[in-house]
Amino acid sequence: KINTDVDTDIITLPRFILENQKMHLNAKGDFSQVLNALQFAFKFISQTIRKAELINLIGITGDMNSTGDQQKKLDVLGDEIFINAMKSSGIIKCVVSEEQEDLIILEGNDSKYAVCCDPIDGSSNLDAGVSVGTIVSIFKMMPDSTGACTDVLRHGWEMCGACYAMYGASTHLMLTMGDGIDGFTLDNNLGEFILTYPNLKIPDHRAIYSINEGNTYYWTPEIKSFIQSLKEPQEDGSDPYVARYVGSMVADVHRTFLYGGLFSYPGDSKHPDGKLRLLYEAFPMAMLMEQAGGLAVDDKGRRILDLKPNHIHDKTSIWIGSTNEVNKYLNHIKK
Ligand code: AHG
Ligand code: MN
Ligand code: MN
Ligand code: MN
Repeated sequence: KINTDVDTDIITLPRFILENQKMHLNAKGDFSQVLNALQFAFKFISQTIRKAELINLIGITGDMNSTGDQQKKLDVLGDEIFINAMKSSGIIKCVVSEEQEDLIILEGNDSKYAVCCDPIDGSSNLDAGVSVGTIVSIFKMMPDSTGACTDVLRHGWEMCGACYAMYGASTHLMLTMGDGIDGFTLDNNLGEFILTYPNLKIPDHRAIYSINEGNTYYWTPEIKSFIQSLKEPQEDGSDPYVARYVGSMVADVHRTFLYGGLFSYPGDSKHPDGKLRLLYEAFPMAMLMEQAGGLAVDDKGRRILDLKPNHIHDKTSIWIGSTNEVNKYLNHIKK
């Protein structure tokens, strides 16, 4: 055998999906169809973002979305690309999107899956060329449902899968189907996502905290004192924590998966329920994080996946990351 040190047996996402399907004897391949539609959407959005500056897609539409965010042209374009890709799957019946006021019912599709998405996460950073992403949660629809909010207004633990794409220097994909998480990197020449972080586990400790300190004035005394405690030498004598904040949840949480640490968007006096949306930001990241061996709770210490939204754009506070760091927060609020 010649030593070419070239990996000639790469695992592409389609191959990974097929191998996963074979492991589930009763699988009919439906979930594989959902994942194939998702990976197409990620590739298309990635390509669109990377040429956005060339075709003047930077900037705002001048409209607002239902959660009060200013809509960027790419928010709207990413949303359209995503919804069309879901329709092409033939078996995704409902779509919730940050950029759509109401649940979307895809006429003509079989009523098998409901997908919630944040088409462009971190879009306020877009015009500065900072990493942004797409975040997705997947639910199997309720039996005999033809598509209604009841298909998505469910506990986080009812999700059957979750994933995000991050459009950074490379395009990365993190995916869970409920049995651990796996990371992929898009090979632009092949046009395929390649398995690069098989069965990824988050370090159980890292002295990094990631939070928007510009909101300090509006935090509760408990949260102020907790974050202050991270800036001092720790009880075990270790150094104060390092601060890292990109401002795109996907970028901050992706770093947390790889390095460890703690990301938080807490509630404050202006936004008691925080800023991040449950269905398409907190839930998918919490499922991925728990599957990677981390934790995800809200300001009160409740497990994110045990929460249940009343409306499709409901928000939640969130503390997510390494077990050591999240437990530090939980111990602090118990005092
Ligand atoms: P989106 O761009 O999808 O609206 O999400 C933005 C979110 C999230 O990406 C990030 O963690 C948070 O907003 C940053 O908020 P601040 O700018 O208030 O820190
Ligand atoms: Mn937004
Ligand atoms: Mn977002
Ligand atoms: Mn968004």
